[in-house]
Amino acid sequence: MNAKAWTGLALATWVAGCAMAPAPAPVAIVKDGELAIPADYKSWKATLLYIQRPDAKQIREIYVNDIGAGTKPGDMFANGSVSVMEIYAAKAAADGTLEKGADGRLVKGNLAKVFVMGKNAGWGKDPAEQPANGDWVYSAFMPDGKTKAPDPIAACRTCHATNPAIGPSKDYFARYDEFLASLKK
Ligand code: HEC
Repeated sequence: MNAKAWTGLALATWVAGCAMAPAPAPVAIVKDGELAIPADYKSWKATLLYIQRPDAKQIREIYVNDIGAGTKPGDMFANGSVSVMEIYAAKAAADGTLEKGADGRLVKGNLAKVFVMGKNAGWGKDPAEQPANGDWVYSAFMPDGKTKAPDPIAACRTCHATNPAIGPSKDYFARYDEFLASLKK
């Protein structure tokens, strides 16, 4: 076979290879503020509930979808991972003292905000999306889960990226260690 024939064969093989394994369709780009709260997040099994934040007078509850729940310790979250965090006001007495339940925990008051972060291929690359947090994007909503909260998204990025306890080694996921430990149960 001459060189030209070899090239033809190689090309045919390449084309056939492409036909057998079509490239996955690119994921639509979702930017900061565009990521919606998934309607079914309350049914996600991977959770960290009753996170006590007396400093902020809050209780926070984290939900992670099944893709995110497939993460192994030391791994980064896979594309398609989504986490929703509900932020509740902690109930306080008239003098501001935080109430405690019989279990010693803060008592949930009203839902104040719902935050969401999700990652996918090519997300988080808009020049306005700074500081870079890998492929994660962020949105913040009021308790109805639909009305945008006034929280500036740049602040989400700054804290999740530059807080020494979070950052790239935890894949920007603040409760990384605790979350992965919870999955082993
Ligand atoms: C000052 C730091 C800070 C800022 C600002 C911040 N976060 Fe977080 N975030 C945290 C911490 C810490 C946690 C873990 C829960 C806790 O301890 O309160 C967390 C948890 C989360 C989680 C659950 C997954 C995880 O990382 O553990 C989501 C989702 C989230 N934040 C989204 C947001 C969004 C959206 C914004 C902006 C509107 C935001 N965060 C702003 C520090 C921050």
